[in-house]
Amino acid sequence: MFISFEGIDGSGKSTQARMLAETLRARGFDVVLTREPGGSPGAEEIRRLVLEGDPDRWSARTEILLFTAARRDHLERVIEPALAAGKVVICDRFADSTRMYQGLSRGDLRTLVDQLHSLMIGREPDLTILIDIDPAVGLARAKGRQGSEERFEDFGLGLQEKMRAGFLELAREFAPRFTVIDGARATETIAQDVLETALAKL
Ligand code: ADP
Ligand code: TYD
Repeated sequence: MFISFEGIDGSGKSTQARMLAETLRARGFDVVLTREPGGSPGAEEIRRLVLEGDPDRWSARTEILLFTAARRDHLERVIEPALAAGKVVICDRFADSTRMYQGLSRGDLRTLVDQLHSLMIGREPDLTILIDIDPAVGLARAKGRQGSEERFEDFGLGLQEKMRAGFLELAREFAPRFTVIDGARATETIAQDVLETALAKL
């Protein structure tokens, strides 16, 4: 069972992914909690290339290749072996993030993202939980964090609005695997919805 969490920066994905992993472990599931970009040593090296330093040193197309290269390494070395061993894999972001961030933010490159995905990845999660939130709330939450990563949250509100709408559109496009959950509530309330959704699939 492969579960991904998606949503704009600050939506609460990482918090919910961690809570779901803990709850499922407590119920006896063997869980691998991982994230993108990154999740394997090689992919974490690529994470530093794409999230730190001058973002303009990569063209939009090169950036798609870098995120996809990171995903290929993560898939081969972490995700596929864990799934083959019967584990539950919970991934904080996956290919839908590339469809949105690289596919929408620097021109319309969605077709290219999808082509590269089918060529090099060719796999979707069994369940994708979209934590939906007003970008103003997400941005306020995300700004509370410190770090050296050039996050895409620096895009500003306009682009985050576009990302939110894009994720909701993606949820309609891939309706069978998506569940949209309202992220503008108390952490525990959201976690309860997330758990029910995951258990229903499991
Ligand atoms: P993401 O991974 O989507 O960027 P995080 O889980 O890192 O989001 O959450 C961003 C910030 O908001 C963190 O400081 C986190 O503690 C806080 N946070 C997460 N969920 C909630 C919530 N439901 N209500 C209020 N604050 C939250
Ligand atoms: P993440 O660590 O999940 O950041 P946050 O907790 O703020 O949501 O992801 C880091 C950034 O990488 C985030 O701004 C989204 C971006 N990203 C892409 O642009 N493309 C991708 O394929 C992925 C997985 C992430």
